[in-house]
Amino acid sequence: MSSSKVLEQLRGKHVLITGTTGFLGKVVLEKLIRAVPDIGGVHLLIRGNKQSPDARSRFLREISTSSVFDRLRQENSEAFEAFLNERLHCVTGEVTQPGFGLQPEALQKLAGSIDAVINSAASVNFREELDKALSINTLCLQNVAELARLNPSLAVVQVSTCYVNGMNSGQVTESVIKPAGEDIPRNPSGYYEIEELIRVLNDSIADVRSRYTGKMLERKLVDLGIREANRYGWSDTYTFTKWLGEQLLMKALEGRAITIVRPSIIESALEEPSPGWIEGVKVADAIILAYAREKVTIFPGKRSGIVDVIPVDLVANAIILAAAEAIGEPPQPRIYQCCSGSSNPVSVGEFIDHLMAEAKTNYAAYGNLFYRRPVKPFIAVNRVLFDAFVGGVRIPLSLTHRLMGLLGQGRDFKALRNLDTTRSLAAIFGFYTAPDYIFRNDDLLALASRMGEVDKALFPVDARLIDWAVYLRKIHLAGLNKYALSAKKAQGRRGSRDRKKVA
Ligand SMILES: NC(=O)c1ccc[n+]([C@@H]2O[C@H](COP(=O)([O-])OP(=O)(O)OC[C@H]3O[C@@H](n4cnc5c(N)ncnc54)[C@H](OP(=O)(O)O)[C@@H]3O)[C@@H](O)[C@H]2O)c1
Repeated sequence: MSSSKVLEQLRGKHVLITGTTGFLGKVVLEKLIRAVPDIGGVHLLIRGNKQSPDARSRFLREISTSSVFDRLRQENSEAFEAFLNERLHCVTGEVTQPGFGLQPEALQKLAGSIDAVINSAASVNFREELDKALSINTLCLQNVAELARLNPSLAVVQVSTCYVNGMNSGQVTESVIKPAGEDIPRNPSGYYEIEELIRVLNDSIADVRSRYTGKMLERKLVDLGIREANRYGWSDTYTFTKWLGEQLLMKALEGRAITIVRPSIIESALEEPSPGWIEGVKVADAIILAYAREKVTIFPGKRSGIVDVIPVDLVANAIILAAAEAIGEPPQPRIYQCCSGSSNPVSVGEFIDHLMAEAKTNYAAYGNLFYRRPVKPFIAVNRVLFDAFVGGVRIPLSLTHRLMGLLGQGRDFKALRNLDTTRSLAAIFGFYTAPDYIFRNDDLLALASRMGEVDKALFPVDARLIDWAVYLRKIHLAGLNKYALSAKKAQGRRGSRDRKKVA
């Protein structure tokens, strides 16, 4: 009988993961514990916070209590607890600090005790202040590279995003991305030279810091990030700084085992640990939620464009395959995209239609999401039409609001509030709902084939497994309802609504 190459290559190995207080990191951790029984150990780099100053206490408070582990607890609670006690190592550290803020001996010891590092920590805020985004999405990779320098055989897996593609259109392959905007010099090895650009960005940050303080400083740093991202060919600071991070790491670790895994938009689990498992309200979900709450009914979008969504379990599996390959195969730079666009495309129009059909026929099954049956449709229109509509409607609405204010009746004008919600969601996500690019994952599928049939079943990565009608209607909406939205909060809101109605 054939065996699992992934399990063989990870047997006895130690893996360090960053970002496990987040969505994806938790699913990677859960899968490693559940599906790789002979792994040597898992080390988590976690920064302390007010309630939990050290990594172990934060792990126990924020990670081990997550519903992501319900399946493990149900299947074999004793083995799970034993894993946590014997093979789960928590390291208190800050990924953005030199040496993760560890003493040199502690850093050396950590580097020497691991075989791979999976860096999943990031700020996924599209409109992050530029200095913060640069620190966590780009410059912290110097610290990851330093760890790798201390252990020459360490395999590095960097979690990036397909959207480092920025404003390029067409087919996007698993290769280094050329910026769509202003030129950045390219090294003959393939990556781009970003030192000078980072220096310029830091000068601009210092300039803004010298001129503003408080909330205004924050706003100016957000604006600076968007402006610089746009100049070089990205729609937002997040994707720009993630691209910069890829370049920094490729240069720092030239000739080493470095794998970049680029997921597209990560959404709820297809299958594992349970169908629909999700944490928080992600990119597309912010729009779904705003529609469910009847705040948004029109949005800029291209119905024929391919919206690239990928369930979180397929992404976690891709990361594990990539780590196993980087540990077990000769070192070299590799890039994999974990996405659905080229192998099992779903259009923006189909995506909307599936969700709307489910909302109309079955809204009552998702009580935390829908307070009642949505009456209006969700319409995607092109940007020009959207801007004309919003601009045209906002002026009279705002005048009416002011007039009502003068008459002493203007405390809460729902229509204006909803329009402003639509405008701000469109500013953040509008780029993603009008795609004119298709992400390819041929190399990831080839990796899955090389690993063999056993690993294809144990660690599936192929988006062709997704039946979009079932996934979007029955799995994702149910997952959002069950895991992402607090039943208590929804009850409170519905209670107060009912009270208002009675009054
Ligand atoms: N979500 C998506 O749709 C998506 C799509 C493509 C790619 N990705 C990539 O997937 C990875 C994981 O994303 P996610 O959705 O799991 O994000 P997430 O839920 O927001 O989690 C982010 C993680 O990064 C850590 N982090 C953030 N800022 C930090 C800082 N300054 N110092 C140290 N740690 C910091 C957080 O730790 P704290 O709790 O300590 O803040 C948290 O563990 C990221 O690399 C992201 O770029 C995500």
